[in-house]
Amino acid sequence: MGPGTMGEAPGGDTLRVGLAGLGTVGAGVVRVLSDNADLVAQRAGRPIRVTAASARDRNRERGVSLEGIAWEDDAAALAARDDVDVVAELVGGSDGPALTLARATLSAGKPLVTANKAMLAHHGLELARAAEAAGVALRFEAAVAGGVPVIKGLREGMAANRIGHLFGILNGTCNFILSRMEAEGRDFADVLSEAQALGYAEADPGFDIDGVDAGHKLALLAALAFGTRPSFGAVEATGIRHVIAADIAEAAALGYRVRLVGVADASAGGLFQRVHPHLVPLSHPLAHVTGSTNAVVADGDQAGRLLFQGAGAGAGPTASAVVADLIDVARGVAGPVFALPADALVEAKRADGAERRARAYVRLTVEDRVGVLAEIAAAMRDAGVSIETLIQRGPSGEGAGVLVAIVTHEGPERCVAQALERLRGSQSLTDVPMWMPILA
Ligand SMILES: NC(=O)c1ccc[n+]([C@@H]2O[C@H](COP(=O)([O-])OP(=O)(O)OC[C@H]3O[C@@H](n4cnc5c(N)ncnc54)[C@H](OP(=O)(O)O)[C@@H]3O)[C@@H](O)[C@H]2O)c1
Repeated sequence: MGPGTMGEAPGGDTLRVGLAGLGTVGAGVVRVLSDNADLVAQRAGRPIRVTAASARDRNRERGVSLEGIAWEDDAAALAARDDVDVVAELVGGSDGPALTLARATLSAGKPLVTANKAMLAHHGLELARAAEAAGVALRFEAAVAGGVPVIKGLREGMAANRIGHLFGILNGTCNFILSRMEAEGRDFADVLSEAQALGYAEADPGFDIDGVDAGHKLALLAALAFGTRPSFGAVEATGIRHVIAADIAEAAALGYRVRLVGVADASAGGLFQRVHPHLVPLSHPLAHVTGSTNAVVADGDQAGRLLFQGAGAGAGPTASAVVADLIDVARGVAGPVFALPADALVEAKRADGAERRARAYVRLTVEDRVGVLAEIAAAMRDAGVSIETLIQRGPSGEGAGVLVAIVTHEGPERCVAQALERLRGSQSLTDVPMWMPILA
């Protein structure tokens, strides 16, 4: 049965969806609501049907039937339509038309379902307040880890737990690139071009590879886990641009894999949120998350360690999460957006990463001459960094530098930062040093 063909249930109790965005996720939602219409209606207790839609180009072929669905050129007009009970915002972007539509929907007193992590990471508190004032649901399961029900898992499944710590692989594009670099020994730029050709990476991949997208998601997870206001501004984000094939090879030789990991934890010192490439021990569950898969680990004081893992992107998984949210709306489920009433969310103090203790990987590329190793060792010693392992590899070719890979003993991050600061000024370095914490 197609979306335009499913009749109104007796009593007209169909949940009527205004759908903004008919790209990967939006078209996926139309397809899921059509392919699984009967199942969705049974589980929701009433049919769910798209009655109106909006995208940029009305004439674009989208591989799904839009028959019987009204069209709006202006997405924000969906909110005011009498035949729309709930809006699904699947346009994207932190501001612009997505935010205009979200505000219009909530101020019209209608529930909002969105996959837009950028918008929520920047405007989540405002939108949560607007949803509460209107007494309607704002759901965003698809915004983090695609089809993986991690929002529901944290907000509902772990509602009885104090969560001390969470971390995860939150960007499928980066994980795909790192997995390929690892499997094939290729360099970043080379694999990025392939990922773009295959459609795994955007033409402008900055948001993904610089850790911004993962940072948006981390800000939302941290708000849910720690009862803090979502705050992307407090996330330290570093991506994978500067990871080279040799880092991955050295990590492998030492028993680790390189992964872009988002870490959030709350302590007396405040809330710490960081996205950064890490070395992950082979025995760690995140080391086995490959390709475009996402995974989130949360430590609850009652439930223990939970691992949420699965497809982080793509039409089917993401639409599955959006439709699950629509089913909740159809059932009349609302509840606080970030697990607590918006006014109870606290403005967390930003914790200083400098005092965090970890073992670390450091890679330096240096000139091939006598005395350089002694210079490195002295910089580390003077900064109070204790070296656990040091590997030196001769130049890989004409004019190439010598690669020095170091694993430190556990210590405060500020000590390694201080050593690297001193070495950055040295004539011996031929490239910018790389530092990665080792996930415990
Ligand atoms: N792709 C994924 O796997 C995935 C996973 C999780 C979350 N998300 C999130 O889901 C959202 C949608 O992502 P997507 O991958 O589906 O993006 P997409 O394929 O680029 O689709 C975006 C859609 O928005 C429409 N659009 C753009 N500007 C518009 C405007 N001013 N008014 C109305 N419609 C407009 C586009 O119209 P045209 O088609 O006519 O150009 C297109 O249909 C984003 O927030 C994204 O972060 C995506």
